[in-house]
Amino acid sequence: MNDRFLKACRREPVDCTPVWFMRQAGRYMSEYRALRAKHSMLDLCKTPELAAQVTMQPIERFPLDAAIIFADILLPLEPMGLNLEFAEGEGPVIHNPVRDRAAVERLKVVDGSELEYVAEAIRQARRALNGRVPLIGFAGAPFTLASYAIEGGGSRNYLHTKQMMYSDPASWHKLMDKFARVITGYLRRQIQAGAQAVQLFDSWVGCLSAGDYAEYVKPHVQLIFDGLKHEGVPLIHFGTGTTAILRQMREAGGDVIGIDWRIHLDEAWAMVGHDRAVQGNLDPLVLFAPLHEIERRVEDILRRAGNRPGHIFNLGHGILPTTPVDHVAATIDMIHKLSQR
Ligand code: CP3
Repeated sequence: MNDRFLKACRREPVDCTPVWFMRQAGRYMSEYRALRAKHSMLDLCKTPELAAQVTMQPIERFPLDAAIIFADILLPLEPMGLNLEFAEGEGPVIHNPVRDRAAVERLKVVDGSELEYVAEAIRQARRALNGRVPLIGFAGAPFTLASYAIEGGGSRNYLHTKQMMYSDPASWHKLMDKFARVITGYLRRQIQAGAQAVQLFDSWVGCLSAGDYAEYVKPHVQLIFDGLKHEGVPLIHFGTGTTAILRQMREAGGDVIGIDWRIHLDEAWAMVGHDRAVQGNLDPLVLFAPLHEIERRVEDILRRAGNRPGHIFNLGHGILPTTPVDHVAATIDMIHKLSQR
């Protein structure tokens, strides 16, 4: 098996830097668009054969060093009692957003068995991978999930989210605690089903001040990482816009800390501490640049990683739907060639 991804998570030496891309299965691939023409996003997620097939699409096409199970961070909202829809061209919509104490109270703390289809997709993807590369499981972090649950979809200013946080902290903490417990159980089930590493996506946490992160988010994230640290698989902690809170994210937990593109990788790693691995941090928009410019950026990131064990190459955030596929292939080759030890 190609295990350079797992080795890098454990900060062990590797033959070259492992690479995978967040959202590596998706609309930039014609194979994905062809399946999506026949099935809705939720159907793909809820049919283990299809989810496993989509998981394999980027693995069949590119020499990536890890697969990530095809699912979505918002899936747990459904069994908790929220009405989730992936509206065509609009992104996710929650039709009954959580806006007050009563709504928080109504949310069910499910144990993850309602998301058995994800566990089954993981088992099928492991079989399809047949040891080729490790499989990553994932979940959304409490803040990012809360932002969708409260706003009812994506958001620019997180108005309702911060309003609950600041004006009804008891309800806020209750909500975050519910998410933390659901996510811990859900990730544990993914690991038991065969996920060889898990990533917690706190994609939008960078909208918070460092003080608010410490008070309203960190203890809940810590509960998740504490609950999973004896599961025996690497835990990845990702967020964007996190330059001001990288040290706190490290303290909250994770063997690997995700770094977005706004900060130099070496500066970020020094903040995180060299006793943790890091993952990142190419701007996803760089994949639209000419190959010589991509190469210059890849070289810079590898130079900043400095051959130190514990760097996993990734984008600073998810790959965009219109990304040129040939640039994705060329970038992966570049990363492997330029990092040859
Ligand atoms: O990385 C992978 O290949 C695994 C699959 C994956 C998806 N979503 C599939 C998806 C992962 C890891 C996610 C995580 C996710 N989902 C996040 C965190 C990562 C990040 O990018 O910040 C968030 C915030 C979501 C919520 C979500 N799901 C949004 C905002 C959207 C709409 C925006 C968009 O890209 O269309 C989705 C839908 C979604 N999730 C798609 C995919 C492939 C597109 C669905 C389609 O085919 O129309």
